[in-house]
Amino acid sequence: MEYCCKEFKVGKCEGEKVVDGETMPLVLQPPQSNKSDLESLILALKSNKDWFEQMIIKNSAVLLRGYDVNNAQDFNQIVETFGWEDIRYVGPAPRTHIYKRVWTANEGPLSQFIYYHHEMVLMKEFPKKVILFCEIPPPEGGETPFVPSFKVTEKMLEEFPEEVKEMEEKRLKYTFTAPGANDTSSMRGRGWEDTFGTSDQKEAERRAKAQGMEIEWLPDGGVRTILGPRGLTRVFEGRKGRRMWFNTVVGMHGKQISSAMMADGTEIPEHVVKRCEEIIEEESIQFKWQKGDVLFFDNYALLHGRRPSLPPRKVLVATCK
Ligand SMILES: [Fe+2]
Repeated sequence: MEYCCKEFKVGKCEGEKVVDGETMPLVLQPPQSNKSDLESLILALKSNKDWFEQMIIKNSAVLLRGYDVNNAQDFNQIVETFGWEDIRYVGPAPRTHIYKRVWTANEGPLSQFIYYHHEMVLMKEFPKKVILFCEIPPPEGGETPFVPSFKVTEKMLEEFPEEVKEMEEKRLKYTFTAPGANDTSSMRGRGWEDTFGTSDQKEAERRAKAQGMEIEWLPDGGVRTILGPRGLTRVFEGRKGRRMWFNTVVGMHGKQISSAMMADGTEIPEHVVKRCEEIIEEESIQFKWQKGDVLFFDNYALLHGRRPSLPPRKVLVATCK
């Protein structure tokens, strides 16, 4: 039995992968069966805060499994233990505030695949950590697969060195259209009022600017957002110099409501986008939820998505600086 520190036992989960010597996710369980209550967990986290944060950076994903975490209140208590500052969600996903630091994850239809992304990747400020809690595991599907971002960059550089260089140098530009009112039949159906947290157009424009976006009002009441130029990859401190695939080209390229191109207007070749999509899937870690799971992502290092799911499925989220 492997003990990392005496308060946790390292476990295993289906789908885990060893990437560059690190297991993703690192599974942490109660050291004894009588230590699975919330109070013991909070105590264990409190006395290992720094170590725990280092593990999130080292392994990119840490999964707490086997604890009695039952609801949003319990989850919130875990989130608050660390003292990491909250970061407000800005983006297209419809989400509902549940309790203190806790929100629903994307409430778009369960039948749709939410494509892999770094949380809030196009915003000026994005979370360092995304923490998810599974209150109701889906009966079928509904996984939250994730991808070590630097592996995508590595493979893209191997296969498309010229194209990657061009995109890196020219940088990228995106457009995105948000509806006038919330449309919960779409996973990107967040209306602009919710997206920007205001119903005042001038204020929405100001907030968009602060996030590095321009907005255009559309005759149907919706809004077109133009973002860019943005980089293709990013290197973050403390992550072994890894070049993260910190963009949303595959998710936004050539869609009805979104686009991605180079900042000077050059199109990104279709076959490059297609192959990138395959690479992301090949490098993904197929993680399956169990009730009570709490999963910590290093949002600098991982892309994550959501597979189509049968109902019911309840996964809650908190995002931190
Ligand atoms: Fe997300």
